Amino acid sequence: MEKPAIEGGSPIRETFLPYGTQWIDEAEINEVIEVLKSNWITTGPKMRLFEENFKEFRGSKHAVAVNSGTAALHVAASSIEINPGDEVITTPLTFVASANCVVYRGGTPVLADINKESYNIDPKEIRKKITPKTKAIIPVHFTGQPCEMDEILEIAEDHDLKIIEDAAHAIDAEYKGKKIGNISDMTIFSFHPVKNITTAEGGMVTTNDDDLYERLLMYRTHGITRDAEKRFGKSGGYEYDMQYLGYRYNLSELHAALGIHQLKKLDSFQRRRREIVKIYDRELQSINEITIPYRIPDIKHSWHLYVIQIDTQNLKVDRDHIFNALREENIGVNVHYIPVHYHSFYQKNFGYKIGMLPNVEWLFPRILSIPIFPKMNDEDVYDVINAIEKIITYYRK
Ligand SMILES: Cc1ncc(COP(=O)(O)O)c(C=O)c1O
Repeated sequence: MEKPAIEGGSPIRETFLPYGTQWIDEAEINEVIEVLKSNWITTGPKMRLFEENFKEFRGSKHAVAVNSGTAALHVAASSIEINPGDEVITTPLTFVASANCVVYRGGTPVLADINKESYNIDPKEIRKKITPKTKAIIPVHFTGQPCEMDEILEIAEDHDLKIIEDAAHAIDAEYKGKKIGNISDMTIFSFHPVKNITTAEGGMVTTNDDDLYERLLMYRTHGITRDAEKRFGKSGGYEYDMQYLGYRYNLSELHAALGIHQLKKLDSFQRRRREIVKIYDRELQSINEITIPYRIPDIKHSWHLYVIQIDTQNLKVDRDHIFNALREENIGVNVHYIPVHYHSFYQKNFGYKIGMLPNVEWLFPRILSIPIFPKMNDEDVYDVINAIEKIITYYRK
């Protein structure tokens, strides 16, 4: 990337402000220390309590904790038997994990273009991509804004498809009054440190389907029928049967202990995210070159990310230049995401090319994620706004 042109002078901030980061306090630290001092540190009662709390929070019948959002996608794709020859439709504007889970199973991820306003997968584009091989849809609630689930559920019903919602960004989101995590076959969540709550690394799958639940449990631990605790405890025998080729994705007690506390703090975290959104909306909409995030009606947004769109027509430089200039101001902007079909792996192995998805390709050079996380104080928020104003003013034609 080119070097930004604002040279000399002092940056808006002296210290770097990341685009997102965790907030861990003494209560969580002490809880993790207690677990370390106990004689059970792998999967056990804390993980089950975390699952109980999570399913209550989302109103789902079941919740299965795993050790990353990626693992959650992988066990979900496995539980519906995505296999070689199967196609699964997802969005190009996502972290590669949403598509990779299909490839892990030997299936083919098929990319359906986004809606240029909401940035979510466009249900009309999903319909165009359906073939006799289509087995499932993975809609991603990008930035925390739910996809148009009524339309997606209807498509799934019409074509007998399964749905795995990727709610890595959408922990407390709602669609028309319904909680995300309780709408379709399965929903996955991520607890990576930049996400709305964290377990350091971790993920969850929710479902209301008893059969899928049993399969998720099996795929989480090698496809074997008995969990480790029973085998290692006094009361357990040695017998177990491996029925599927499963994985090793269970969450440890250390991570679960963090999750239990983080979930209790989610409301206060989200309140702060929404306050930051209000300030950004108010202050940024007066800058002509910036489009603030569009909201579809009748949803609750989780605001994992705040993505602005930059109209570079009136600027002397492109988005990458603005990105670098803001980084020089110590503002940790980011770009979410490089579309899936831009990656060499997908070009080499699936023949995807730039040119195949016009909406996301139009959007990609315009988007910029600006910092949003609960620990940001108002001064941090205004540093971001002032830096954006400074850079845009400097590069205006
Ligand atoms: C949309 C989306 N899906 C899936 C994942 C994977 O989650 P994890 O990093 O916990 O494996 C992420 C994480 O960045 C994500 O943003």
